Amino acid sequence: MNENHAKLCPSPEWAAHIQDQVLPSLTQHADLGEDMLEIGPGPGAATDWLRHRVKRLTALEVDTGAARKLAGTYPGGNVQVVVGDATELSYPDESFDSVGTFTMLHHVPTLALQNKILAEAFRVLRPGGVLIGSDSLASNDLHHFHADDTYNPVDPASLLVRLQTLGFGKITVIVDWNLKFIAHKPDGQDACGAGSGSDAAA
Ligand SMILES: C[S@@+](CC[C@H](N)C(=O)[O-])C[C@H]1O[C@@H](n2cnc3c(N)ncnc32)[C@H](O)[C@@H]1O
Repeated sequence: MNENHAKLCPSPEWAAHIQDQVLPSLTQHADLGEDMLEIGPGPGAATDWLRHRVKRLTALEVDTGAARKLAGTYPGGNVQVVVGDATELSYPDESFDSVGTFTMLHHVPTLALQNKILAEAFRVLRPGGVLIGSDSLASNDLHHFHADDTYNPVDPASLLVRLQTLGFGKITVIVDWNLKFIAHKPDGQDACGAGSGSDAAA
């Protein structure tokens, strides 16, 4: 993360943005269940909101320093902060009811690695589980904000097909001032094709 992120991501303004504008609109359409995995929590803007909404929250962060700092915020609570790379999760299949990834996919350098993360999310979800996510949309300002940092924004138009190809169903992709998506792992009850529809809204 560059200096711009070091200032913005831990700020109260960013936490308010994530907690007031992003997460409520995602979770109103999704049952998070009891066990949630958050990928790339950074300083924890989403973590701090999600921990009140699930029984157990695992926050997986690739940056050791960020993980250590976040872990110090929640001693003995229902948040377990783990150092790890979301492209290769160590959890068994079907470990979580929900997986969340917020403002992090554009920090993953290649499309293949982004797809690996989405595939890992699918693998560790229980049948019927849900992936919720958000990200910034590509823009000149965002490009400049990422000077000397990884900048690989998600193309909203192809995201639905990418998720569908990985096996997700009941997919919603919302494009307005940012990108939001909700995608379910089929629960085996869905009849052929029924219940695995997709919506795109712009
Ligand atoms: C821009 S920050 C977003 C933090 C937080 N989710 C938010 O919305 O405020 C992206 C975070 O994703 C983490 N990250 C990037 N690639 C990762 C990976 N492969 N596995 C786990 N975390 C990763 C980065 O270290 C960073 O903390």
